[in-house]
Amino acid sequence: MKARRNTCIVGLTWGDEAKGKIVDLLAPRHDIVVRYNGGNNAGHTVAFNGETYKLHLVPSGLFHPGVTCVIGGGLVVDPKVLLEEISRHEGVAKGLRDRLLVSSRAHTIWPWHAKLEALSEKHLGKGKIGTTLRGIGPAYADKANRVHAIRMGEFLRPEHLRVKVERILEAKNLTFQKVFGEPPLDARAVWAEYEAYGRAVAPMIADTTAYLHRALAEGKRLLFEGAQGTLLDIDHGTYPYVTSSSASAAGIWPGAGVPGRAIGDVLGVVKAYTTRVGEGPFPTELKDAVGNQIREQGHEYGTTTGRPRRCGWLDTFAIRYAARLNAIDGIVITLLDVLGGLPELKICTGYTLDGKPLEDFPDDPAALQRAKPVLESLEPWSEAISGARQLKALPRAARAYVKRVEETVGAPVRIISIGPDREQTIFRR
Ligand code: IMP
Repeated sequence: MKARRNTCIVGLTWGDEAKGKIVDLLAPRHDIVVRYNGGNNAGHTVAFNGETYKLHLVPSGLFHPGVTCVIGGGLVVDPKVLLEEISRHEGVAKGLRDRLLVSSRAHTIWPWHAKLEALSEKHLGKGKIGTTLRGIGPAYADKANRVHAIRMGEFLRPEHLRVKVERILEAKNLTFQKVFGEPPLDARAVWAEYEAYGRAVAPMIADTTAYLHRALAEGKRLLFEGAQGTLLDIDHGTYPYVTSSSASAAGIWPGAGVPGRAIGDVLGVVKAYTTRVGEGPFPTELKDAVGNQIREQGHEYGTTTGRPRRCGWLDTFAIRYAARLNAIDGIVITLLDVLGGLPELKICTGYTLDGKPLEDFPDDPAALQRAKPVLESLEPWSEAISGARQLKALPRAARAYVKRVEETVGAPVRIISIGPDREQTIFRR
């Protein structure tokens, strides 16, 4: 097994690091792009030939006709969203249905998941998580709880599934009616709709674990596409303000069925600044004019929900933690162009808690909430940089910024993205 031929693209912060563009760029050097976690809470953007494509479930390699796209068993798949996404893009993503495989082990999202999540977030009020309301958490909860879970493979046995859906909805409706005082969902109507989705996705359902094992044995090159980011990882992120899946590279093994030794080159993606959507601690957040300027210059509004993203300075203390966790080989910096024209420029190199410097990224959300960033000022630049194709074409201050990121994170910067388009990229050895 030649692990070095495989690559992992993983977000090092709270998601939205523009991983989609990077996966699209690197896809032609690989045979298979594999998503391994999350669901349609993700919003991956790919831009080329003057068009922008937004993806939620289909791996970002879809626009390359020679690339097979795999939705791994670690995902929760809303079949309705999947089919809509395939229909929307198959005109450009030629032959997509014939080169998209959905794991029979992947779990599924049903209308009761989104309904339950909306009720739960509303009930939590100020204490809410600020989820994307796509039913992700309830679907993963059912997966862990097993009794009310449905995997993709079950769509291949519709008679069994029809009875199961009725049984599950009986229980879910008790919760809706008795706990929330809400009307029940109609099992017949739900089944009528989802049976049709099942028929449409059935030809794409496969044992993707076996498929990927064969591909590895044949020397095929795999590109693993992480969704969300390491700080949203259910185990290693800023719990409880996280998503419900393994969003770090640690998710590849369970989420794709591919052993850790096969992962290969791990590229950790960060924006040139830091953003977060939803609730939860964010030590370098800027609630001032500079934060607003970053949001406007970077168009920092959610791809999935349209919510304004919270913006702040690059947090290399948090990123160092994420870099260690993922054992990154290199860094990808995206949206470096967005920093141009800011009146000041800072990066966070550490945290203090109650006046004392911290050695490790806090494991306790209350401590993270109280932690203060140690900020270092760097020279800002005002030039537009999106036309640069080599590092040396960047203004001196922008090169110094990249160097400082390498020093503070402790890994080389391998790719710099300076605009949404494929061409707006600087590759380094
Ligand atoms: P959920 O994944 O919908 O359960 O949301 C849990 C948390 O993860 C919320 O703070 C969301 O805003 C955040 N989140 C989920 N998916 C993404 C993403 O793709 N990018 C950024 N944040 C996300």
